[in-house]
Amino acid sequence: MLRAAWEKEAGTTMARTVMGRLQLAIKRDGWWATVRLVIRNLQLLIRKPTAPLPPDPFDQCYGLDTATIMEGCQLETDSDSAIDGIRYQSSSDGHFRRALAALPIDDPENFTFLDMGSGKGRVLIRAAFLPFKQVIGVEYAVNLHRIALENVARMPAGVCRAPIEPRHGDILQFDYPDGDLIVYIYHPFGGATFDRFLDGLEQAYCRQTRRLFFLYVNPHLLAKVQARPAFDPLVTESAFALFRLRT
Ligand SMILES: C[S@@+](CC[C@H](N)C(=O)[O-])C[C@H]1O[C@@H](n2cnc3c(N)ncnc32)[C@H](O)[C@@H]1O
Repeated sequence: MLRAAWEKEAGTTMARTVMGRLQLAIKRDGWWATVRLVIRNLQLLIRKPTAPLPPDPFDQCYGLDTATIMEGCQLETDSDSAIDGIRYQSSSDGHFRRALAALPIDDPENFTFLDMGSGKGRVLIRAAFLPFKQVIGVEYAVNLHRIALENVARMPAGVCRAPIEPRHGDILQFDYPDGDLIVYIYHPFGGATFDRFLDGLEQAYCRQTRRLFFLYVNPHLLAKVQARPAFDPLVTESAFALFRLRT
């Protein structure tokens, strides 16, 4: 009984999400671009399933669900910026480790670590293995946010050394906390959303005297960051780039 009600509700929510995204796409990009977007999403849905991935050791170790990819059409969000959003895929552990190791800091306890587009929370949990002041994630897909909350709750006591707070919302509406920041992204979006995100980051930096490091993993839009004088490049590799904000 409960299950049937839940499935009905889930179906209605999905239909609302799809209709909302279609209307948004038509309004912003017109009919033709929307038709192409729908065709692309249908191709992703019906393409021959690939062989199942081997179990993820990190997920297995803690009983988590972070490794499975979710395509854009599976994300439940009615955010305007969804039009520029990329699918959910967790950062590779190797890239994440290398990116963090590049940070020129020896006082993590003074920094808040932010994962912008935090998905199912894998990066949040891994970052919290270090004693940051706090670890905050922002994710606009409510289904991913719920999974992140469950994953964080599953972590055994004492493993994470920083408090973790997954938040549901759009990165473009995010209110940056005070103090020193490490802002992490794994290519969450393109288009105008990326430019607006960079504007917001600069504004957050200028609001007060603070240290702000920007870690950009899978840096597809690197040139856009490099074009901004406020972003001082410290490390540039194919897998990630590290910047320090400056005035
Ligand atoms: C490539 S995944 C990265 C997930 C996670 N940061 C990691 O590295 O494992 C990008 C995530 O950003 C989220 N996202 C995209 N645009 C967003 C926005 N405007 N606001 C909040 N989340 C967003 C997507 O839903 C997705 O979960």
